[in-house]
Amino acid sequence: MASEIKKIAVLTSGGDSPGMNAAIRSVVRACAYMKVDCMAVYRGYEGMIEGDFVPMDARSVNNIINKGGTILKSARCDEFRTQEGRKKAYDQLVKNKIDALVVIGGDGSFRGALIFNKEYDFPVIGIPGTIDNDIFGTRYTLGFDTALNTVVDAIDKIRDTASSHNRLFFVEVMGRDVGHIALNAGVGAGAEEILIPEQNLGLERLLESLKRSKKSGKSSSIVIVAEGDKTGKNVFELKEYVEEHLPIYDVRVSVLGHMQRGGRPSAFDRVLASRMGVRAVEALLEGKTNLMVGIMDNKITLYPMADAIEGHTKIDRELIRVADIMST
Ligand code: F6P
Repeated sequence: MASEIKKIAVLTSGGDSPGMNAAIRSVVRACAYMKVDCMAVYRGYEGMIEGDFVPMDARSVNNIINKGGTILKSARCDEFRTQEGRKKAYDQLVKNKIDALVVIGGDGSFRGALIFNKEYDFPVIGIPGTIDNDIFGTRYTLGFDTALNTVVDAIDKIRDTASSHNRLFFVEVMGRDVGHIALNAGVGAGAEEILIPEQNLGLERLLESLKRSKKSGKSSSIVIVAEGDKTGKNVFELKEYVEEHLPIYDVRVSVLGHMQRGGRPSAFDRVLASRMGVRAVEALLEGKTNLMVGIMDNKITLYPMADAIEGHTKIDRELIRVADIMST
């Protein structure tokens, strides 16, 4: 059936991530190429409720592929969790003659999109934009690769000062309740220990590992701690615990925080975003909805949004084994 879709809106929602601008650019350019109009929605669902829309053409997205953050801004919107809020949003879309929506965000944003589709039968396609890499149905989410490089670069810098002062550093990284950033960046930066929520190694094992590092002649160590780690102690408490039980160590803490969400997107994220944006627009014009664009075995795929929000990409057990071997 020829698509009745003549105008597509695009928004970014939830925690921003590098690559979102590249995805926005791709959606806008794909609309121009496929001869459908495109509207940007500013500030995510909040802007949709308020009708904060701007028409976009191919030139509107010049020079943004290399920029971190999102030119459309993002927001977490409680009002969109209410029926009244979603009704206001729907009325705004109708008033602006918008026929379909591309949502670039994480699982929370997809949850809102699915409820909206259920209430208004409004076509939605999701693009997974989050540094956490925690969305089921895609090997990579937009921003994960860039965040990894940011974290590895930061740890390299911390290692310089750790080795200058023979110190142990606990470095906390983002990832909400999954450990993909911690595990991959930990291996990439040669961390001595990596604490992730998916595998509670316990404090004894940590102490044993640190003792072993010291005995093996390592004068400094880096322990990466995922913010969702379940050891039961935050990085500052871990510092105190080690100082108490292993006084041989001079311990410091570094919480990387929101700098992991910024920065110029990596080439990988730019290419991934460009591929995903095109597929999102094509899917809508093919009459599809409630699907998330993903990548599996380097092929761009469409995955049911309802399944994507139900699961987390499993932690890579083989990589955990590699990390263990590397900390010998
Ligand atoms: O989901 C991305 C993320 O950066 C998480 O890794 C982190 O826990 C969270 O967002 C922080 O949320 P906020 O930006 O609202 O503080």
